[in-house]
Amino acid sequence: MSIKLPANSKMLTPDFTFGVATAAFQIEGANTADNRLPCIWDTFCATPGKVINGDDGSMACDHYHLWQQDIKLIKELGVDAYRLSIAWPRVMNEQGEANQAGLDFYRNLLTKLKEEGIKVFVTLYHWDLPQHLEDKGGWLNRETAYLFKEYADLVTRELAEWVDSWATFNEPFCAAILGYELGIHAPGLSKPEYGRQAAHHILLAHGLALPVIRQNAPKAQVGIVINMNRSYPASAKSEDEFACLIRETLDNQFFIEPLMKGQYPKLLANVAPQYLPQVLPGDMEIISQPIDFLGMNFYTCNHNAYDAEDLFKDVKNSQPVEYTDIGWEIAPHAFEELLINLNQQYDLPPIFITENGAACDDHLVSGQVDDDQRVRYLNSHINAVNNAIEAGVDIRGYFAWSLMDNFEWAEGYNKRFGLVYVDYETQKRTIKRSGYAYQAFLSER
Ligand code: FCB
Repeated sequence: MSIKLPANSKMLTPDFTFGVATAAFQIEGANTADNRLPCIWDTFCATPGKVINGDDGSMACDHYHLWQQDIKLIKELGVDAYRLSIAWPRVMNEQGEANQAGLDFYRNLLTKLKEEGIKVFVTLYHWDLPQHLEDKGGWLNRETAYLFKEYADLVTRELAEWVDSWATFNEPFCAAILGYELGIHAPGLSKPEYGRQAAHHILLAHGLALPVIRQNAPKAQVGIVINMNRSYPASAKSEDEFACLIRETLDNQFFIEPLMKGQYPKLLANVAPQYLPQVLPGDMEIISQPIDFLGMNFYTCNHNAYDAEDLFKDVKNSQPVEYTDIGWEIAPHAFEELLINLNQQYDLPPIFITENGAACDDHLVSGQVDDDQRVRYLNSHINAVNNAIEAGVDIRGYFAWSLMDNFEWAEGYNKRFGLVYVDYETQKRTIKRSGYAYQAFLSER
């Protein structure tokens, strides 16, 4: 099994960027080193019952110390680009001043990446809000959006030299809805009215930071990363179709419509006004300023049926389909449809697929990891992107999630997404079959 595209694919030209992605909290470890402040995920991990096996981010992949060998791995895979995130609690103290030791870590890392000829895609916020800000209300407090602007200003002033692309946020849906509405991610709050208000403040923070980043990093691309789902009706009944419409509206349109059109979906005002946040005059103009690219993360699809109380509920696909180790249906057709639909609905900037990948039940046997399912997953999804490009969608890059196995949030170290296997006892890295397949595919371009 290998990864292969049609010979004439636009994805095989030098204009298309292939990369691997990670995020600070998931790989760095060293969560008290060099005055790093506690973040909401440290607190969440320390709360019994929140993360499987009580896992935490204190060690993770120890990337804070092993970053040089990790850059060698990135180089060895032969990718064009690396997407990483900066930890807010590492680079700014409680007074809002720079923590130079934390900044030095990123300076060294980014300098080395550039020396190696790797393009650098940085995300400013991949969920690790400093705990002292959560203590003042976190993303429910509008003030946090203004503090994010300060943080973005500091980081882009200090690090702009090495960065090709800045994303303000990773997946506002997860940060806000999983964290403040469903309570399954940090900070673990669960009130229906919280999630959408947190989301609005995150989108506002994105908009407030944009002009600052542009000013400090005039040569870089600036955008945001959102996750998207495709929802299919459990039956042909119109009420199940409606459930899917609501589900896609709450997961996708709720985030993309403010960014692209400066409004929350009109449907919500009619059928689910409880999902509308409080918006102050001028907010939507701030949120909908032009961006250079839209980052999109895609993993799976949903199946939904109507539910009288919640309007929709998740059901399993009635057809026999394949799932990954995290229980997510493998649905490359959904990826292709989603991209094509979106392109019809909005006047989009160029798209980068900033995450896509699979959790597999990986085992290191005689020094090898035979993750055939992941190879098939990557192949089918890269081809789905190619089909979307053929259908006219402007997609400029694809990043596999993830460079290496890491801390998978509420799932702890139990779920492995890496192209590289990490033995957490020894911190030894081993390139999996999928890593070699990606490497072979990239080298044949
Ligand atoms: C995404 C996150 C990423 C990773 C993958 C599996 O939602 O952005 O950090 O955990 O899921």
